[in-house]
Amino acid sequence: MELSDYLRALKRSWLIIVSCLLIGAAAGFTIAANTPPRYQASAMMFVGVTPSDGGSWNLTSSSNYARQAAVSYAQIIRTELVLDPVAEALGIDTDAAALAGRVTATNPLNTQNIEVTVTDRNPVLAAQIANEITQQFATIVADELEGSPGEDDSLVRIEVLQPAITPGSPSAPNRTMNVALGALLGLAAGVGIALLRQVLDTRIQSVDEATSATDLPLLGAIPDTVIDKGSALSVAVSPRSHESEAYRALRTNLDFVGGDPRQGCRTFVVSSCEPGEGKSTAFANLALAIAETGKRVVLIDADLRAPTIASLFGLEASVGLTDVLRRRASLADVLQQWGSGKLFVLAAGQLPPNPAELLGSATMEQTLADLRTSFDVILIDAPPVLAVTDAAVVSRFTDGALLVAAVGSTRRPALTSALGAFEKIGGNVLGLIAMRTPRTADNAYTYAEQPAR
Ligand SMILES: Nc1ncnc2c1ncn2[C@@H]1O[C@H](COP(=O)(O)OP(=O)(O)O)[C@@H](O)[C@H]1O
Ligand SMILES: [Mg+2]
Repeated sequence: MELSDYLRALKRSWLIIVSCLLIGAAAGFTIAANTPPRYQASAMMFVGVTPSDGGSWNLTSSSNYARQAAVSYAQIIRTELVLDPVAEALGIDTDAAALAGRVTATNPLNTQNIEVTVTDRNPVLAAQIANEITQQFATIVADELEGSPGEDDSLVRIEVLQPAITPGSPSAPNRTMNVALGALLGLAAGVGIALLRQVLDTRIQSVDEATSATDLPLLGAIPDTVIDKGSALSVAVSPRSHESEAYRALRTNLDFVGGDPRQGCRTFVVSSCEPGEGKSTAFANLALAIAETGKRVVLIDADLRAPTIASLFGLEASVGLTDVLRRRASLADVLQQWGSGKLFVLAAGQLPPNPAELLGSATMEQTLADLRTSFDVILIDAPPVLAVTDAAVVSRFTDGALLVAAVGSTRRPALTSALGAFEKIGGNVLGLIAMRTPRTADNAYTYAEQPAR
């Protein structure tokens, strides 16, 4: 995936990402709200060494000794030697091991200091324990560790630099921290889900993805537009719009595929993987764009399962192709001219039970041959190729098929299967029309700024 793919994935799943972030923050808040507050109280001790007179001690060696002593004292503080008498003195009903879990003693590097920190749910008790530790420890150092009981000959003494005071506010839970951490974890989870969705999603998200999935030449890229009842025929109703220009570019590109455009009539059939990907819209507008150049065009609705061409143009839908194929009417009877121009429409007519059979018949081939004598271009709208073989069957009577892929909904594996369906029947797929291309990102493909005339 490229950077733009990542950005698109994030944009597409922004709601999931924001939801995860909020859920994470809410979880952090809930945890903080349900965690009983804890208080911390610290006391600072100093390890001093009194040089004995007459000895070989000097100031440097005595402070060196004190620093080394402070390192091991910091470890001794959390043993039962110190904590048992502390619990006893304060009347706390707990053993030294449990108390040690609430006590930390550290010796800041290269100092003679020892900092004792006690954590407890009771702020007063936290300070009491810390202070009691300093008292008891001073006695133990003097009496047991560095001297003999009852004698006042200890070289090492412990002085309390700073007694513990009762903390005013709890040290934990830190609500801001919990909420921020929860939000961060939520954000990470949201981004993860967004990227996973992108990786697992096989829908094509850009024109590039559509072309690379098929290896077909891109013949047109029609931007996504808001289409309501009256605006589907954009080439007719809004001829200067981006999408109309895109249809003209498609018209131009058609000259370069499927044989020599100067030789007689050209015939194309359109199909796609699934219904609703824009086949009828694309060919109706392509027909209008070709008619603009003065060529005689006929648009045939060969989607005998869900015909829409007649209603798109506001023409009579009840008679058309099927009447010709069943020899109930002649072409001249059922061809409808659109406006006063060069465009003729052959509606689907009554829907038959056997569309594929009718479309693959010799009569169909003959009908197309007849139309070739009076038209420059024949455009045939057909059903989706994955569901039924109609499009592939008809494509054998044409110069080739154009495959419509809708950005954002057509799936990559479906495009591959669609190509396979044409191949199986010997149909020729000439190129790809990308529908509903993103307006901003892929503008380069719409050729919107270079009207092709
Ligand atoms: N470029 C486009 N931008 C927005 N909507 C489109 C575009 N092309 C087609 N549509 C809409 O998609 C729907 C299906 O189009 P249609 O041409 O009937 O598809 P198909 O013939 O493949 O079933 C229609 O509602 C149509 O208005
Ligand atoms: Mg259709």
